[in-house]
Amino acid sequence: MTAPRITVNGTEAPISPAAPHTTVLDFLRERGLTGTKEGCAEGECGACAILVARPGTKEPTDWVAVNACLLPAAALDGQEVVTSEGLATAGASGTPGAPGALHPVQEEMAVRGGSQCGYCTPGFVCSMAAEYYRPDRCAHADPAEGTAPGPNSEGTDRGPGPDAEDTDPEHGPNGFDLHALSGNLCRCTGYRPIRDAAFAVGAPTDEDPLARRREQSPPVPVATEYVRGGSAFLRRNTLDETLRLLRERPEAVVVAGSTDWGVEVNIRARRADCVIAVDRLPELRELRVGSDAIEIGAALTLTEIERRLDGHVPLLAELFPQFASRLIRNGATLGGNLGTGSPIGDSPPVLLALEASVVLADADGERQVPLAEYFTGYRQSVRRPGELIRAVRVPLPLSPVVAFHKIAKRRFDDISSVAVAFALDVEDGTVRKARIGLGGVAATPIRALSTEAALAGRPWTAETAEAAARVLRTEGTPMNDQRASAAYRSAMLGQSLLKLYAQTTEAVTS
Ligand code: FES
Ligand code: FES
Repeated sequence: MTAPRITVNGTEAPISPAAPHTTVLDFLRERGLTGTKEGCAEGECGACAILVARPGTKEPTDWVAVNACLLPAAALDGQEVVTSEGLATAGASGTPGAPGALHPVQEEMAVRGGSQCGYCTPGFVCSMAAEYYRPDRCAHADPAEGTAPGPNSEGTDRGPGPDAEDTDPEHGPNGFDLHALSGNLCRCTGYRPIRDAAFAVGAPTDEDPLARRREQSPPVPVATEYVRGGSAFLRRNTLDETLRLLRERPEAVVVAGSTDWGVEVNIRARRADCVIAVDRLPELRELRVGSDAIEIGAALTLTEIERRLDGHVPLLAELFPQFASRLIRNGATLGGNLGTGSPIGDSPPVLLALEASVVLADADGERQVPLAEYFTGYRQSVRRPGELIRAVRVPLPLSPVVAFHKIAKRRFDDISSVAVAFALDVEDGTVRKARIGLGGVAATPIRALSTEAALAGRPWTAETAEAAARVLRTEGTPMNDQRASAAYRSAMLGQSLLKLYAQTTEAVTS
C-alpha cells in the first residue's frame, strides 16, 4: 500500500499530514489552491465545487463536479482532481499556462458578465466545465438554434449569445443542461449572465487535454489505510474484505458519497475514530435489469443511476431532478439515503411506492428486507452493526400510474416539508392496486396503508380521489417545525392525491 496521494491539476500531492477528517476543500486550500471557496460548508452553495475523474457512462472517464467541502481528502487517494486553477491551463483557448489563459467556460463567464464579486465563480466554472465535458451534451444540441459565437481572444464583442427565451428554458441550444448548476448559488451577479455563459459554450477541441482524458480508463480504486492521531480512514478492495473489517470495527462510520459525513464534520464537529469507505466496491456498483426485478447497487451515485436507467423507471426519473442538486447527486447514493434513515430523505417514499427491498450483507451472508419493514424508528432500522446495504431491488413489472410530489419551499435543492410518491395500477378505469410512500409525516418514512386500501378496487373517479384524499390527510403523525405546520403537511397530503387525479385525467383527455 503506497502513501495516500491525490493527483491535483496533473501533479501528485501526498495527503499527509492532513487528518483523516480533513475535507478536500481544506486540503486544497492548505496547498494554496484558494480558488476553491468555502461558503456554507454543508453542500448547499457550490462555492467549493471541483472536478473529479470518475468511471464514465458514455466514455471510459467522466469529469464529475462534486462538493469539496463534503469529501474527506483521504477518500480521493489515487484519484485525479481538477480545480478552477487547473481548468485555466487545461483546455485554455490561449496558450496553456500563460498568464491570463482561460478555459472556455471561464472565458464565457468573464465576457458575459457572469462574475461580480467572484466568490461563487470558481465553483460555477467547475460545475459548468463538468457539463461542458459531458460526452452526450453536444449530441443534444439543436443546430437550428445556432451555436455560440466562436472564441474571441479579445474577450469583447461576443454578440448577444443564444436567445434562451426561444428554447427549452432548462437546456441551451448547445445542449447545456442548466440542472448542472442547480447546486451553485450566486448572491450578487444574478443568474441571467451565468445562464448566458452556460448556453454559449461550444464543444471541446480535439486537443483539449481534459476531453482527451475521458478516452482513457478512470483512475483505479486503491485500498487505503490512512491512520493519524488515533483516527483512521480505511478502504478495502472487495466486499468480503470490507465486511470482515466491519465485523472488527462495527462502530465505524460507513461512507459512500460522504454527503452526510461532511455535514457532521463541518457543522456538528463530529470526528469519527474510524471511517470505512465503500463507494468503489464493485459489488456495490452493479445495476442489473432482470425479468422480475431491477437491482441497483447501493454505492452507485444518483447521477449514475439516473443516466444508466435513462427513464426506464419513471418514478425514479421523477425523483432525481428533485433530489438536492446535481453536485449532491454526483456523490449521494441510495445506500446512503437509506442508511442514514432520515424521515425526510427523498428516496424512501419513492422506493416504498415501488415496493423495493433492501439487500443487506454481512460477513455471514445476505438477507433481503422489504423497505416497508426496514425502518424501525427515528433514524433507526433493522440493519445490524457490521451489516452493509449492498443493493436495492425494485420488483417488476412497474405500476403505470406514478408521481412524486415533493412539497418544499424551493423547487430544487431543498429539503422537503412533505414528500409523496404514488404507484397505481389502473385497469379499465378501476384501481387494482395502490402503493403510496410518504416522507415528512412521521418519525420514519411510511406507507399510506389506509389510503391504499381506500383506493384498491374502486373506480378511478373524482369521487374516489376525494374520498381517498380525506383518508390520506389523516395518515402519519405530522409535527410542527420550522419547515411547515402539522396542519399544512396534512393538507398537502390530500392535495397531492387530488393533483395526481387531475394529472392522470388530463393525460387521458388531452
Ligand atoms: Fe457550500 Fe461546499 S462550501 S457547498
Ligand atoms: Fe458574487 Fe456570485 S459573483 S456571489
